[in-house]
Amino acid sequence: MLFITTIAGIRARRAELATTGTRLAFVPTMGALHEGHLALVRRGQELADEVWASVFVNPTQFAPGEDFERYPRNLEGDRVLLEQAGVTLLFAPSTKELYPRPSTTVIDLPELTAGLCGVQRPGHFQGVALVVAKLLNIVEPHVAVFGAKDWQQAMVIRRMVEDLCLPVRVEVHPTQREDDGLARSSRNAYLARDERRAASVLHRALEGAVAAIRAGERRGPALEAEVAAEVSGEPMTRLQYVAAVDPDTLAPLAALKDRVLLVAAVHVGATRLIDNVLTEVC
Ligand code: PAF
Repeated sequence: MLFITTIAGIRARRAELATTGTRLAFVPTMGALHEGHLALVRRGQELADEVWASVFVNPTQFAPGEDFERYPRNLEGDRVLLEQAGVTLLFAPSTKELYPRPSTTVIDLPELTAGLCGVQRPGHFQGVALVVAKLLNIVEPHVAVFGAKDWQQAMVIRRMVEDLCLPVRVEVHPTQREDDGLARSSRNAYLARDERRAASVLHRALEGAVAAIRAGERRGPALEAEVAAEVSGEPMTRLQYVAAVDPDTLAPLAALKDRVLLVAAVHVGATRLIDNVLTEVC
């Protein structure tokens, strides 16, 4: 696996690859890799001839007071996992390399970012959009693979790619889960043992709402109330939001139509976790 830290290095290798007609998939990450990331790599391998990954903890997507400083970093471990998974190139730029001076360009998609995580994390999606636009322009992959756990992020990226006519397919791959349903996330590493046990309530609550849909419930607010009640039964967790939304526009659904995304964020101790389930309404 090649290990490259500069934009010039990536561009040189990308130009070589272009001469061979190789189809390239790209998995951008912030490192602290787990099975969820490796599933994105495997999906990339199904869709392309070669997979490249990046590890970059992007400062512009963390608000002051968030966990940028303590975000788990393990570049050596990540390197081993990616190499074992068959990734052929790892791009691990420094902050100076990607942001040689503070950016003045803002990529803002207010319709998709005003609600859900955008309420509690102002500026977060602007930071995500900016860094992903940079990475896609540097790497120029045919396909980029993102996890469905960060559904709002995936919709922002998909729309940005469409709006900016970036020549890349955005692939959204299903969330990988622990045995008790907890979505795999680098932030799970923050959880103490009892918090880890409590955290499983989030997926259980969302699945409870899916069961209610199957039993005939069609009112978005009733489903939200059901999730809130289940989460409140776990004293170590505090619900930040829950919403029943249109999966594409993220608009709240008072009455369910053909598809619904149930999406929620909870605090477990000091750790903020998000999860969602997408379900057909038949
Ligand atoms: O999902 C992530 O890990 C990050 O938000 C991303 C897409 C790599 C951008 O920093």
